[in-house]
Formats: sequence, C-alpha cells, structure tokens
Amino acid sequence: MRLLVSAGPTREFVDPVRFLSNRSTGKMGYAVARAAVEAGHEVVLVSGPVSLEPPPGLAAFVPVVSARDMLAALRRALAAADALVMTAAVADFRPARVSRRKIHKGAMPDSIRLVPNPDILATLARRKGRRVFIGFAAETERAVAGAARKLRAKGLDLVVANDVTLPGAGFGVDTNIVTFVRPDGTAEALPILPKLDVARRIVAEAEALLARRAR
Ligand code: C5P
Repeated sequence: MRLLVSAGPTREFVDPVRFLSNRSTGKMGYAVARAAVEAGHEVVLVSGPVSLEPPPGLAAFVPVVSARDMLAALRRALAAADALVMTAAVADFRPARVSRRKIHKGAMPDSIRLVPNPDILATLARRKGRRVFIGFAAETERAVAGAARKLRAKGLDLVVANDVTLPGAGFGVDTNIVTFVRPDGTAEALPILPKLDVARRIVAEAEALLARRAR
C-alpha cells in the first residue's frame, strides 16, 4: 500500500514572529507512519512543525508550515497514493493579513481578522477516485455524533473519533481512546491503547478497506 499520512499542527503567521496554532504534537500521525512502515508499506509523511524525529524507512518526509502548504504538499503526493490518513490538526482559520514586519507592542491591534482555511480533506475528496480516506475527529463532547457527521460531510471511509478532554486521550499523551466510526453507521469503541497500537489498528483498517475496493 502506498500510504500518505499527515501529522501535527499547522502554523498561521500573524507577523514574522507570531502565529496561531494548536496543541497537536504529531504523536498520533507519526505513530501511523511508523506502524505502516513496519507493516511493509510505502509511506509519505507530510508534517506540520513538531519536535519528533520522523520514523526510519519513510519513502518521503515533507515538512510544511501552514494549512495551505499542507494542502499543496498533499495534493502533489496524492496522485501516487492508495490511501490517505489525515491525522493533522489543521488550523481552521488564518489571519486575513500577514504583516511583513513584527507588529510593535504599541501598534498591536485589538483584534485580528481571520479568514477560513481550506478544508483539506473536502478539497482532496474531489480527486479521491478509488483511494481510501481516513479522517480524525477530535471533539470535546459527543465524539461519535460529531464524527458521523464529519464522515458524511467529507465522504470518508473511516473516522477515528476521540474526546480530547478524556485523561489518556488526545494531545501530547502516548495513549489514545478512540472510536472507529464507519459509513454504515456502526461505531467500534477501542479501549485505551498506546498510540502505536491505535496506529496499527488504523493501518489494518486501511489495508482491509483497500483490499475490499480492489475486488
Ligand atoms: O472538521 P474537523 O476539523 O473536526 O475534521 C477533522 C478532520 O478533517 C481531520 O482528519 C483533519 O485532519 C481534517 N481537516 C482538514 N482540513 C481542515 C480541517 C480539518 O482536512 N481545514
């Protein structure tokens, strides 16, 4: 399987030294990339800025900064991929204007106008073809209902939902508590597991989805 994985946060700059971002550390996405390499797949990892070492054995590692960079990198790599696992925590908004110079304390505006970033999955869905698309849904409540909505809206084959407020799940920790939400409406809640084990289950799901599609 040729697997494309996105990971980490994106940074949306306000001026040359300041940006908007989020709490993503990239651990889940890097674990997916590692698990896929270990399973013998050809893996391209597109990553926002994180402090992790890329796992050994990748076919390519593509560092990106903003959501628009990430979209461009994934768009380029998608043609040669059989499956996309979109774990990145893409910033939904970016400042409407990026100042070329550092904004001085005294000149700091009381508000920053934001504009929406493109939805990467929804954009790439137009060129999905027979590829398998797996998305994440990091929610703070009612994770499964939100995930089912996302699955339909973005035309995904699987959504990995997690409540990021639970201890042992979400940002920064080495474990995750996820529920697989499928297009047929079923939800499979996994126990608390190391992120690498969650990653192995996700890779197995991608393999199974692709095998079914090839028939
Ligand atoms: O709608 P929400 O952001 O919760 O959806 C999460 C899923 O969508 C994740 O897989 C995330 O990587 C992806 N996403 C995206 N482009 C965005 C925002 C989220 O592809 N602008």
